[in-house]
Amino acid sequence: MIEDQKTILKFEGVLDNIVLGDSIEIMKQIPDNSIDLIFADPPYNLQLENDLYRPNETKVNGVSEEWDKFKSFKDYDDFTFKWLNECKRILKKTGTIWVIGSYHNIFRVGKIMQDLGYWILNDIIWIKTNPMPNFKGTRFNNAHETLIWASKDKESKYTFNYKTMKAYNDDLQMRSDWYIPICQGEERIKINGQKIHPTQKPEALLNRIITATSKPDDIILDPFAGTGTTLAVAKKLGRSFIGIEKEQLYANACKERLNKTESYSQKLLDYPLEMKPRRIPFGSLIENDYIKAGEYLYSENKKYKALVLANGTLSYENQYGSIHKISATILNKPANNGWTFWYIKRDNELISIDNLRKKLLKKM
Ligand SMILES: C[S@@+](CC[C@H](N)C(=O)[O-])C[C@H]1O[C@@H](n2cnc3c(N)ncnc32)[C@H](O)[C@@H]1O
Repeated sequence: MIEDQKTILKFEGVLDNIVLGDSIEIMKQIPDNSIDLIFADPPYNLQLENDLYRPNETKVNGVSEEWDKFKSFKDYDDFTFKWLNECKRILKKTGTIWVIGSYHNIFRVGKIMQDLGYWILNDIIWIKTNPMPNFKGTRFNNAHETLIWASKDKESKYTFNYKTMKAYNDDLQMRSDWYIPICQGEERIKINGQKIHPTQKPEALLNRIITATSKPDDIILDPFAGTGTTLAVAKKLGRSFIGIEKEQLYANACKERLNKTESYSQKLLDYPLEMKPRRIPFGSLIENDYIKAGEYLYSENKKYKALVLANGTLSYENQYGSIHKISATILNKPANNGWTFWYIKRDNELISIDNLRKKLLKKM
């Protein structure tokens, strides 16, 4: 029996779940070419050496955790190469990957991605509408993070819901600068009033990414899941997901968050704007008795007429071909759309064959 990839993943116990462990090791259990979308928010290697204080002497809750520490750039690069390499293996040819980072790591990540053969599609600048100030006043206020969006390779045909995103953006093409506040308020997960994770990402950011670059039922992977922002948004939007996180505290918080998260109903998740119109060939009109062999097609001004043959082609002054080819010959053009050129007589009036095609489409 051939099992589909979703069944295999379920069998391994990782689908629609958060798995506790090292992402490079866990990813090794995931089959090749099985993931539709990856969102990775890896350690940034911030290299913070001293505690940082605000002018009122309160300590800034920065990222000082062990998981963000690497001995050297080389160590960080080796780690980055390994996890990005696994991601590439398991990403479908039609899939894409997002990696978020700051000036501390994103240039290194970008170079490694290109070395591995990923094809960079965009870099998105997430502009934080409420950034933390630069307390020391020694540098510009660092008010953004960068996201690299890449396909598996240069030839990949990937999912991008362009029309949906344009409609989302009040009918203006969605740009690469996104204004979104950092995660705060009710959304920020806390224990005894303390944030449990220093870098919990806002759901709004993931909502935009998942809406733009995946479809319902796709499988989304987050190899550095933290509190599970990606997984919670994936669940809401009717996607399957896999999260990997090595810290028990965060994995527990993520599990609790997922238990409280509900999915939207199917009818709220359709993507009608992205549906490609179904193609109907001229021959189908004959197969379905909308046009009979032996009838004539006419140009709109009735100056030209061509005979419909039983095999779905036209005959015109000893020339044979498709509705497109014969119309192009008549117009002396290299190509032409026959659907808008040809008409047929019905009740002594000419009607466009394109209208017949639309009628048939509705029935199919
Ligand atoms: C930048 S945070 C991700 C935060 C997450 N996006 C959120 O919204 O909560 C990176 C996470 O990766 C985890 N991590 C670091 N190295 C890891 C590894 N080798 N395998 C799995 N998780 C790892 C850390 O514990 C941390 O929670």
